[in-house]
Amino acid sequence: METAGHVVDLGCGTGNMTGILKQRFPAADVLGVDGAETMLDKARAAVPNCRFEQADFATWTPAKAAAPDLIFSNAALHWVTNHKTLFPRLLSLLAPHGVLAVQMPSMHDAPFRALQNEIAREGPWSRFLDDAGYARALLPVEAYYDVIRPKVATLDIWQTTYLHVLTGKDAVTEWAAGSSLRPFLDKLPPDQAQGFRAAYSEALRPHYPERPDGTTILPFKRLFLIARI
Ligand SMILES: C[S@@+](CC[C@H](N)C(=O)[O-])C[C@H]1O[C@@H](n2cnc3c(N)ncnc32)[C@H](O)[C@@H]1O
Repeated sequence: METAGHVVDLGCGTGNMTGILKQRFPAADVLGVDGAETMLDKARAAVPNCRFEQADFATWTPAKAAAPDLIFSNAALHWVTNHKTLFPRLLSLLAPHGVLAVQMPSMHDAPFRALQNEIAREGPWSRFLDDAGYARALLPVEAYYDVIRPKVATLDIWQTTYLHVLTGKDAVTEWAAGSSLRPFLDKLPPDQAQGFRAAYSEALRPHYPERPDGTTILPFKRLFLIARI
């Protein structure tokens, strides 16, 4: 895509990618959309040359004269489940010849995420965790093809497994503590958080053993799709 008038960063978080989109499309009106005002406050401060709006993925609708040429979403849409309706809806919001470009982690069935859910349900901390951050299952990759392909002119869809080579003690737990473990930890009193984290580390060890050189490999699968209407 050479140029764009309206670009949307859906699930923009603190605006990391919104700023990059503005660099890539300097003449475009770039709008970051996120459900969390705390994230948007940071994004507004970090990327003052973009606009930001609070909304839910399921209901966000562009202003009438601002149909997006590009809806971009990085590491966000996997937080909701209704993809069979969400993806057609997003495509329907695009301007003619518009593009939907999405990346989602696909880790719900890997021990990395599955054990978070299992341990959250089993330990004494479960009463605090009430659906805290349970990994939502993506559809099978073929289902994205089936849902999207009939509605678009072209579709590129692929998965890549990155091998993250981590260092340090309980390196996978440390990695998770900055991302998918956060919604669980945030809901727990300190002593419960410590217990939950220790149980998670223990359960992870056989799945992600330390290598002879002391590193730990975390295979991390991501689904990418670029659909052009
Ligand atoms: C992991 S962050 C990704 C942030 C950003 N895209 C990036 O690449 O740095 C996921 C974001 O999705 C937002 N989010 C999750 N569910 C949402 C929903 N239903 N509607 C709107 N935003 C949502 C969260 O608030 C969070 O900021």
